[in-house]
Amino acid sequence: MAKSHITLTVNGKSVEALVEPRTLLIHFLREQLNLTGPHVGCETSHCGACTVDLDGKSVKSCTMFAVQANGADVRTIEGMAGADGSLHVLQEAFREMHGLQCGFCTPGMILRAYRLLQENPKPTEDEIRMGISGNLCRCTGYQNIVKAIQYAAAKMAGVPFQEAAE
Ligand code: FES
Ligand code: FES
Repeated sequence: MAKSHITLTVNGKSVEALVEPRTLLIHFLREQLNLTGPHVGCETSHCGACTVDLDGKSVKSCTMFAVQANGADVRTIEGMAGADGSLHVLQEAFREMHGLQCGFCTPGMILRAYRLLQENPKPTEDEIRMGISGNLCRCTGYQNIVKAIQYAAAKMAGVPFQEAAE
């Protein structure tokens, strides 16, 4: 099958590649760029495990072709930590608040939370739950994921995190 030439930015680096027109973005990231943080949970746009940030939006990378990302700016979980290896505040938050168990949903969940907090730096609990409603977690029951996002929001705002009474 004829391949298409694409150029895009991934985690701050310029990338050029030849891709088959049928290649999904998630497979391009995982198999051609070896970025295996975004996971494949369903390939039917339900689970959100494949979520990446693309041109300032959360995108389920199983729902678009790699050729459609030509010219785009993409961020995956591999691009969240600092160059010195320091964790992004959301990664720290998920660790501190036990926002993960098996971790399968976590890369997509963190990328979704990242965009949510960019759009709404002080979300209410309901807004967080609505904001991550396209990302499924089969382990945690979501409570600690919500807490982790609240922790990150507080830290980004420079205020102490206060856990709500349950
Ligand atoms: S693998 Fe993309 S939404 Fe499930
Ligand atoms: S931590 Fe296992 S699916 Fe979310």
